[in-house]
Amino acid sequence: MPPAPPTPAPVWEIIHGFRRYWALVAALDLGLFEALASGPLDAAALAEAVGVDVHRAGLLADALVAMELLTAAPDVPGAGATAESQPPPAPPAPSASSDNAAGPGRLVYNLGLVAANYLLAGGQRSMARLVREAPGPHERWPELAETLRRGAPSTRVEDDPGAFYPDLARGTAPIQRVAAAAVARELAAPRGRQALVVDLGAGAAPWALAFLDAWPDARGLAVELPEVVHVTREAAAADPVGDRLDVVAGSFHRVELPVGGADVVILGHVLRTEPRKAARRLVARAAAALRPGGTLVVADYPRPDVPSSAATTETLMALTILATTGGQGAFRAADLHNWARGAGLTPGATYMPLPGQTVLTATRPGGLSPAAAAGAAGTAGAQPVPRPGLRPLGSVFPPSDSRE
Ligand SMILES: C[S@@+](CC[C@H](N)C(=O)[O-])C[C@H]1O[C@@H](n2cnc3c(N)ncnc32)[C@H](O)[C@@H]1O
Repeated sequence: MPPAPPTPAPVWEIIHGFRRYWALVAALDLGLFEALASGPLDAAALAEAVGVDVHRAGLLADALVAMELLTAAPDVPGAGATAESQPPPAPPAPSASSDNAAGPGRLVYNLGLVAANYLLAGGQRSMARLVREAPGPHERWPELAETLRRGAPSTRVEDDPGAFYPDLARGTAPIQRVAAAAVARELAAPRGRQALVVDLGAGAAPWALAFLDAWPDARGLAVELPEVVHVTREAAAADPVGDRLDVVAGSFHRVELPVGGADVVILGHVLRTEPRKAARRLVARAAAALRPGGTLVVADYPRPDVPSSAATTETLMALTILATTGGQGAFRAADLHNWARGAGLTPGATYMPLPGQTVLTATRPGGLSPAAAAGAAGTAGAQPVPRPGLRPLGSVFPPSDSRE
């Protein structure tokens, strides 16, 4: 007898991905998470807060419960979450009036921990703006097959950078600031002189600003396209350390960089949107800007050597870049290491500050690198110390010799 076929659940799960995404966008558009920010509400009160009738609001809330963004419980005060982990005090329960009374009794909905930490507008780690921008321009996805055949989308993000990148840069900044701060804490500022931090394709400058925060005497230089540079300037103006950040409008392929003058050069999520040769040239430009001992910091989503569901973020990010830009989509850690070696750098520690995100470093030989200086100062070694949320990957990505 032939073996029983597997369940079709994985196919449903893929279709559900589309539904989950748009349910989340609707919740953000309706301000549903903010409505629950100060405590649980029943369906009637939630419906009133978001301006939707109680049946429809209840079904959306049920979907968000299924997505683990909300919790639902019978009306017992005390279940819930705030932005860290403490449940907020339950307010007095609103009067029962909803049609969910016909089910298991009146339910109250509450924010789950993920929503409380990442989906409230204005939160320190908020991804609320990023949700809309992260898949790239939505209209590119239905034409993906044709894009893959043709080798480029019908319209590339870089054809009109001012139309897409400002919102993406603003959306990605809060969570990237958290990731960048974790990496900056691993590297120590040089002693006895003012350090220079260069951020190429800075966006809202989460990486440069995190380093300036961690290194109180350092100065920064952020390079951003003229169509997007207002976002960099806004971010610097709004940040307590932003007065130490100089902002230059121009392409990172062409602006004059301080040759041999930088202690850190950051390439934050820019190499994947470049064609391969341009990415390698950009690494060489960044390397030339480093002083001896200076460190190249590359934050990205490298292509895994063996695809797996554990690398979902990296793999789908790569497809997003192919769907929306003329870039290569993703490079491998080994590629970056080879480009860095070709530019005279020595590959160094690798970190994973966020799930799927990899931060690769490479250092110009000849001085005390920020990583080594951190060891000398007793804060961390050149090989990073494991800590929650910041995982050294040196053993996962051993130095490789794959050639172009
Ligand atoms: C994905 S965002 C990353 C922003 C920030 N580095 C981060 O990691 O969050 C890419 C940024 O690179 C900028 N960019 C793209 N091409 C560029 C170029 N040729 N010169 C300067 N900036 C560029 C875009 O405008 C955009 O703000």
